[in-house]
Amino acid sequence: MGIWSKKSISQLQVEEGGGHELRRTLTGFHLTLLGVGAIIGAGIFVVTGTAAAQHAGPAIVLSFVLAGLGCLFAGLCYAEFAAMIPVAGSAYTYGYATLGELIAWIIGWDLILEYLFASSTVAVGWSGYFTSFLRDYLQLHLPPELITAPFDVRPGSHTPHLTGAIVNLPAALLVALLTGLLTVGVHESARVNNFIVFLKVAVVLLVIGFGAFYVEPANWTPFIPENTGTFGVYGWSGILAGAGVIFFAFIGFDAVSTAAQETRNPQKDLPVGILGSLAVCTLLYVLMSAVMTGLARYDTLNVPEPVYVAISRAGSALNWLRPIVSLGAIAGLASVVLVMLMGQPRIFYAMSRDGLLPPFFSRVHQRFKTPYASTLLTGAVAMVVAGLFPIALLGQLVSIGTLFAFVVVCGGILVLRYRQPELPRPFRTPFVPVVPLLGIGICVSLMAGLGMETWLRLIAWLGLGLLIYFGYGRKHSRIGHGERTPAPPPPADLGGPL
Ligand code: ALA
Repeated sequence: MGIWSKKSISQLQVEEGGGHELRRTLTGFHLTLLGVGAIIGAGIFVVTGTAAAQHAGPAIVLSFVLAGLGCLFAGLCYAEFAAMIPVAGSAYTYGYATLGELIAWIIGWDLILEYLFASSTVAVGWSGYFTSFLRDYLQLHLPPELITAPFDVRPGSHTPHLTGAIVNLPAALLVALLTGLLTVGVHESARVNNFIVFLKVAVVLLVIGFGAFYVEPANWTPFIPENTGTFGVYGWSGILAGAGVIFFAFIGFDAVSTAAQETRNPQKDLPVGILGSLAVCTLLYVLMSAVMTGLARYDTLNVPEPVYVAISRAGSALNWLRPIVSLGAIAGLASVVLVMLMGQPRIFYAMSRDGLLPPFFSRVHQRFKTPYASTLLTGAVAMVVAGLFPIALLGQLVSIGTLFAFVVVCGGILVLRYRQPELPRPFRTPFVPVVPLLGIGICVSLMAGLGMETWLRLIAWLGLGLLIYFGYGRKHSRIGHGERTPAPPPPADLGGPL
């Protein structure tokens, strides 16, 4: 009991499955599509440019390989959890079933960094493509004070400085609009979602396929620019720092596990979806970053819309591709913001239902059947964050938070194999303990590449989380106080695919 209390797997299944029987129609292929849809976003479309310009140069390609490896090892561990507990869940749910309440809380609190802050981050990325589209195709020039964050942070500095701008209005408005849609329960239909995934992947393939013909090999030399004397600015340490920064681009594959109950054969299909979407995205990212740094010199890519800028370097030959890139990024990034804004209230919902957060977070609207209170709260915070802060600061915070969650997941697999070797494991992470240890090693190294100020922000965030847990959650926990009756099942609307 207490901070180490666990939820039984059968209890989880009753809770998650009791309210509705979802049709089991999805296959490994569908799950891979779902994962790719959640993964490809501002990371490749925006952060790649900044990371190449400030950290790795053309060797950003190696940063993608390194970050992809870290995700692969963490993904193999994630898949063992997801197959073992095939309910619509997140690392929070898995943690509660296996590692105890305190660890579950830490993961859940950390997931807020992943979902809530990632929605703001991607909204800022969306704003860059949206405003350049307005400028270039509709001749609409928005005032810079209204499309830029008022705060910025110089690398190595702890305190934000003022930029003179007022607010990133398009980013904030996008979050407000999508929050409104989610509150009244307008779900992205599967068909729209599939179309957007198709569009995003098509844009990436077009950039790779056509851009490759206009690559200037001179732009790739030096492939690893010489380190400037500062850790993380070019050289090998730059590759590591670049990998930490672009780690953001891989976030989202865990969305696959939320569709567990609609999957034909979750024990087999979940690992296929998780690992398949990671493999597809790693390949696309490596090729795309090679083409981008081949089209434009890396130091010119530190802009809000680097793919667009890189394509423009090909001259008039690729003019036709420019609006397609803009529109693909605008639709594709908006759909990632929607997925993130939809995921966060569901995590709040689960934590509140377990008593770790106040009942406010699990309030469901009578008519709309949506978790409206936590949706509105998530939207309000995400909107303010998107309006005020720059993408670099936000992206690094999301990266370090997610890396930390992955370290806990890899550690969890090790602990469970030792403590509960008898649990049925339909998917087993191969080569334990080597794979989880490599996962931990790579994720911790990527965290190390992220700089002191990002670490301090993570520590402050976790400290705040522990205060809330010991001040509230521990006293109100249902499981921790021995309540054996399952919590009420979520309303039908909550169970839909993310
Ligand atoms: N991986 C997602 C993106 O890059 C979060 O936008």
